[in-house]
Amino acid sequence: MSASSPDDGNANPLREHLPQTSAVDPCAIVLFGSTGDLTHRKLAPALFELALSGELPAGFAVVGFGRRPWSDDEFRENLRETLAKENDGRDFETAWQRFAPHLVFVEGNLDDPASFARLRDRLEEVDRSHETRGNRLFYLAVAPEFFAPIVAQLGDAGLIYPGYQDAPWSRVVVEKPFGHDLQSARQLNRELQSVLDERQIYRIDHYLGKETVQNILALRFGNAIFEPIWNRRHIASVQITVAEREGMAGGRGAFYDGAGAIRDMVQNHMMQLLCLVAMEPPVDLSADSVRTEKVKILQTLPRWTPEQVDQHVVRAQYAAGSLQGEDVVGFLQEKGVAPDSTTETYVALRVMLNTWRWAGVPFVLRTGKRLPKRATEIAIEFRNPPTNFFEADTEGGSSVNQLILNIQPKEGTSLAFQAKIPGSRRRLRSVRMDFRYGTAFAQPAPEAYQRLLLDVMLGDPTLFTRTDEVEAAWQFITPILDAWDRPDAPPPHSYEAGSWGPDAADPLAADHGIRWRRL
Ligand code: BG6
Repeated sequence: MSASSPDDGNANPLREHLPQTSAVDPCAIVLFGSTGDLTHRKLAPALFELALSGELPAGFAVVGFGRRPWSDDEFRENLRETLAKENDGRDFETAWQRFAPHLVFVEGNLDDPASFARLRDRLEEVDRSHETRGNRLFYLAVAPEFFAPIVAQLGDAGLIYPGYQDAPWSRVVVEKPFGHDLQSARQLNRELQSVLDERQIYRIDHYLGKETVQNILALRFGNAIFEPIWNRRHIASVQITVAEREGMAGGRGAFYDGAGAIRDMVQNHMMQLLCLVAMEPPVDLSADSVRTEKVKILQTLPRWTPEQVDQHVVRAQYAAGSLQGEDVVGFLQEKGVAPDSTTETYVALRVMLNTWRWAGVPFVLRTGKRLPKRATEIAIEFRNPPTNFFEADTEGGSSVNQLILNIQPKEGTSLAFQAKIPGSRRRLRSVRMDFRYGTAFAQPAPEAYQRLLLDVMLGDPTLFTRTDEVEAAWQFITPILDAWDRPDAPPPHSYEAGSWGPDAADPLAADHGIRWRRL
C-alpha cells in the first residue's frame, strides 16, 4: 500500500478533506497489553501498515509494557511472528528491517510505581534515540478493571502533561467496554478525569474507524438528494443489522458471558450507527459539532420501564446447530460460559425517536452471534407510492424503495427501485443501483484501527466517544439490563446456531409491517 496524495489518480476522494498525514507529530506509542490479543490482531498490524505506507512520522517508537522479562529484541521477535503471518506475499523482510528498530519493551507491573518510573525513564531515553519529542500516546489494550489504575499510575509518575498543553502532549486511548452500566461508566469517567483532561481521553469504538461508517455522513451531508427525504414523511422504517457468524472463538467465552450482546455490540457499535443515521446535520464537521448532534439522538432515546423492555426488546441465546455444514455447540457448552448462564448472544429491539424528524418511524435493530453470515447493514425503507398503478412482481412485506448501506463485508451502498419488466404487461420488478467501494476506488479501505490511531496522533477526537455520549448510551441501555435482572424477567429465548435468530423477534418488526431482512 502506498501513501496517496490529493493529486494522485487513485486518491480516495472521501479522504481528501480529512486531516493530512503531514501533521502527525513524532511520538512514542505505549501499549499496555502489548502481548495480548488486540495488540496482535489489530494494533501491531495497523502500526506496521501505517509505518510502511509512510503515514507515521520519522520519529516514532512503539513501546510495549508488560510483565514478561523481555528485551527489546524478544518483544520484536514476538511481534515479528504475527506480522510475518499476515504479510506473506510481499517483501516482508525489507519492511520488517525498517520497522523493528522502532520497537522497544519495558518490563513492568501495572500496580508497581517503580515500573512506571522505569517507563518514564525509558521514554525519556526514547525521546532522544527515536526523536519522539516527549509526545506520548498511551493505549490501554487491557481488561477494563485496569483502565483507571493505569491512568492513576501514569499521573503519579508524571507521565501526563496538562491537557491545555499542545506540545509535548500526552493522550490516552481507552478500549471498550467503557463501564458495564451507567453508574460504572460515570465512575470510570470521574476516575479518568481526575488525572486527564477530556481532550486527552480517546474512548475508542472501532466501528467509527470503518470507512463505510464514516460514509454515512458523507452520503447524507455530502449530497443534496438524500437529506430532503431523510425524515418521517418519506422514510417508513430503519433496520440495522450486525450479524456475526463467529461464536466464542479465541477463548472469549468467559469475557462474553459477563457482557452479553447488549453491552458488547448494542451500547457502543449499534448506538453509533443509529446516531449517524438519525442525527441532525452538524454545523460543521468539527469533533464537537458532530458529537453534540449524536448525543442529542442518544438523549431522545426512551428510558423504558421493565414492562416496556419486555415489549420492545427480545434477547436470546444460541443453541447447538450447524453453520456451513459444520456442527457447532450451543452457547452454554462454550468454554468459559457458566452452564446456567442467561447471557444473551442475540438482541433485537424496536425504538422510536421522539423528534420532529423521526416521530412515528420505527428503528429496528438486531445483532447476534452464530447467525448464518457476517454482515452489517443499515436498510432505509422508504414509504410506498400513494397509488398502485402497476402489478408488482415482488412479495409484499418490504417497501419498494430501499437504500441499503452495506457496512461490511461487501462495503457499498445500493438503492432498490422498481422497473418495468419488458413486455406488454405493466409488471414491475425491484432492481438495484449499486456502488461498491472495491470497484469505485480501486484501493482497499484502510483498517479501522489505522485510521483511529492516526487520528489520536493528530489530536482529532471526532471518531471517539465523548463523556456525555458514552453516558447517554448507558442511560438507554441500563434500564434494559435492570429489567433483565429482575427475578421474574422472562428468560432469554433460544435460537439454533446457523439460524437468523428466534421467531420471538419477528413481531417487533411485523407489528409495524416490517420484515427482518434475510441478508
Ligand atoms: C467487538 C466485539 O467490539 O466487535 C466483538 O467485542 C465483535 O464481539 C466485534 O465480534 C465485531 O467487530 P467487526 O469489526 O468484526 O464487526
